[in-house]
Amino acid sequence: MCGIVGAVAERNVVEILLEGLKRLEYRGYDSAGVALLTGDGTINRVRRTGKVQALVDALGQQEALGSTGIAHTRWATHGGVTEANAHPHFSNERVAVVHNGIIENYQSLRENLVNQGYTFTSDTDTETIAHTVNEALKNTDSLLAAVQASVKQFHGAYGTVIMDRTDPSKLVVARSGSPLVIGLGLGENFIASDQMALLPVTRRFIFLEEGDVAEITRRSVAIFDKNGNAVEREIIESSVEHDAGDKAGYRHYMLKEIHEQPVVVRNTLQQRIDETGLLPDIFGKGADDIFARVKHVQIIACGTSYHAGMTARYWLEQYANISCNIEIASEFRYRKSVVHPDSLLVTISQSGETADTLAALRLAKELGYMASLTICNVPGSSLVRESDMAFMTRAGAEIGVASTKAFTTQLTAFLMLTLALGKHNNIAGEDQQAIIQALLNLPAKLEETLAITQGIEDLAEEFADKNHSLFLGRGDQYPIAMEGALKLKEISYIHAEAYASGELKHGPLALIDEEMPVIVVAPNNELLEKLKSNVEEVRARGGIMYVFADKDAAFASDDTMRVINVPHCDGPIAPIIYTLPLQLLSYYVALIKGTDVDQPRNLAKSVTVE
Ligand code: F6R
Repeated sequence: MCGIVGAVAERNVVEILLEGLKRLEYRGYDSAGVALLTGDGTINRVRRTGKVQALVDALGQQEALGSTGIAHTRWATHGGVTEANAHPHFSNERVAVVHNGIIENYQSLRENLVNQGYTFTSDTDTETIAHTVNEALKNTDSLLAAVQASVKQFHGAYGTVIMDRTDPSKLVVARSGSPLVIGLGLGENFIASDQMALLPVTRRFIFLEEGDVAEITRRSVAIFDKNGNAVEREIIESSVEHDAGDKAGYRHYMLKEIHEQPVVVRNTLQQRIDETGLLPDIFGKGADDIFARVKHVQIIACGTSYHAGMTARYWLEQYANISCNIEIASEFRYRKSVVHPDSLLVTISQSGETADTLAALRLAKELGYMASLTICNVPGSSLVRESDMAFMTRAGAEIGVASTKAFTTQLTAFLMLTLALGKHNNIAGEDQQAIIQALLNLPAKLEETLAITQGIEDLAEEFADKNHSLFLGRGDQYPIAMEGALKLKEISYIHAEAYASGELKHGPLALIDEEMPVIVVAPNNELLEKLKSNVEEVRARGGIMYVFADKDAAFASDDTMRVINVPHCDGPIAPIIYTLPLQLLSYYVALIKGTDVDQPRNLAKSVTVE
């Protein structure tokens, strides 16, 4: 959350900073700001509440120039959404700071700084960074040394970039908990919280590690680890698509990303599976030896990724005969848990930077898990670097805040993990073949499923004036119902709850009336008859139902039930297939309601703070 961009160059960097902010806007979009070191030795700061476009418009009114600068797009944590709280923050017109994360001890720092004579002009924790560095500059001429001394006082998470008016040749950056990446140019260098921001200007990146502080000039990058030792960090050539930030003709990123699913699922499968099964070493060299010893799987994730993990639990126990638990990262990290012998820890994350998931991984290492695997979409992210094994979903950049293609590629990855672990746990031959065939057919099935869009647009009309809704599923479709409900609430702001349909009569049935639409996911599987009984329970109480069903499931539309046929698919991939109509339903409801689909209120992509 929050986006950071910085540049030190010969040329004017304003356009680079603004383009970077636009590409990071999905990370936070309540206010934005830029600070430029001008030729006359002053700092030109412009900040605006609202979207980055408001900042662009404001800068368009003046001829902003500067070859060293920092910029920020905010997702408020401390202090409301006001211009005064927008970054960059200043100390005495000398030090300018942008920051991603939370300085947890900011109250006590603030009290000390006020006692030392500093005046605060915002309610943010970030302003304490600016004043602390300014204070440290009283003891040294070096911005680097001042930042190194200052970070010792900060508790919490930060990715921060600091600029000193008296030294326009450099930026100093510090990372603890919140990611930062240095972009290397020719005679110019850059910094950002995500490589996406810098792809128009470079493809060569250095990912800073925990505790790193770095000094960046036009021609040099000097990095120091948490102990202050000079270190070399690997330079990585990025393979992320430059134009991933483009909507490719779609009205919204979310719609583009929904329609990309057949392609990105195909990419995720490519060179990993064929008719004979999984290809060797797809989870990394040595992974198979580890899998042979695994007796239990513990999955940890948040949000949509958690729903992928919930689905995986059904698959791992049903097909791979291996016991599996799944827990929300923010719960796992703050409770005492018992580690099963020979447990594999699996984290799932689109971004690879989710603060709670990362903290859970670090805790699990202390607790003595046998090994860790992450299923992740962002190469070079913290989870990828810190896990023993990494399996990359190849969803490409996901810009829409509501996760879509990341989810279906995560599920695809989990079916491959089911095969890999099942091999060592007597997976039934017919199950193994069924999963292989279903995976090979999956991209085509996804295309076929997307073709039912029209029916869903019509359906959305009936939803848009409702305030509540209930999603029902059974077995491995229960997490899909949960994911459908999450999508609807995120982007249409309609209250949605999901239940395993067997739970209906244990309470939620009391809610049923004609104002509470009930969405049912009904593939033709062994739980179909049970599900039909649940549907009858709703009908008997006057509920209105929307049933996404296999045509062989024999549901018929009538006054109280609208049936949307979903293409017939093999059992193991049904959760992936039934996800698509629910994504489309949420999208079209949000469209009718006129909400900000790609940047829904109060949310931001990549939750790098607790
Ligand atoms: C929902 C959504 C979030 C994320 C969650 C975890 O659409 O995007 O619930 O799934 O914040 O993020 P990652 O997967 O990046 O760890």
